[in-house]
Amino acid sequence: MASAVEILAKQAMKTFGDRRSVNYRLCQKNLDKLWSLMNKITAEDVKLDKSILDFVSVQPAPMCAMDIFENKDITIAIFILKHGITMPMHDHPGMHGLLKVISGIVELNSYSLKAKSDHIIKANEEIVAVRHRPVILHSNSSACVLTPSDKNLHEISCIKGPAAFLDILSPPYDVDIFGHGPRPCTYFKAVKSKLCTESTDVIEEVHLSVVESPPDFYSSSLEYIGPPLKIYND
Ligand SMILES: [Fe+2]
Repeated sequence: MASAVEILAKQAMKTFGDRRSVNYRLCQKNLDKLWSLMNKITAEDVKLDKSILDFVSVQPAPMCAMDIFENKDITIAIFILKHGITMPMHDHPGMHGLLKVISGIVELNSYSLKAKSDHIIKANEEIVAVRHRPVILHSNSSACVLTPSDKNLHEISCIKGPAAFLDILSPPYDVDIFGHGPRPCTYFKAVKSKLCTESTDVIEEVHLSVVESPPDFYSSSLEYIGPPLKIYND
């Protein structure tokens, strides 16, 4: 019988697998099915046990990453943040993503750019975004979804750790954007903010400027030891 993570990966390919074709349009029904499968994924499904979490706590890197699968259409990985660590604010240009906490507790702060475009942000550009109300996520929380225009930027703070989350991204960062080479992951900081009261989901309008990737935030790799995936690799 196929494992839960393999069923999830197959649904991710069904949802995003055609996206390099010019006629690709995201099917909301497929995304909804992917989201509901993602909601059921547990630490046991990916063999993330206490010994791995204990190891993350004592090794030096603020975060550990476990690559599960990557092809030209999707990336599936697990990220584990040490207690008290914040993954700095970053974007996912032109990408969709789903994030499911499977262990520990995180606070997720998401931002949407006010200009709805897939463009790559330049180093000296100041951009305007809205900050959504922060959400606290644990292993019983539903998966969070980001799209090219909605909640595309986020920062993730581990408030009870180590905290692990499963991430599906499409297309992967390594896949070209608009024929200009791999899509960059850009880091940001808020330089100015103004409270927003007209919506319950949006709490602030913020001006963001691009920052260098923070030198004290880095990741080390861990081997994925959960069920192997038998899906396409092209
Ligand atoms: Fe991210």
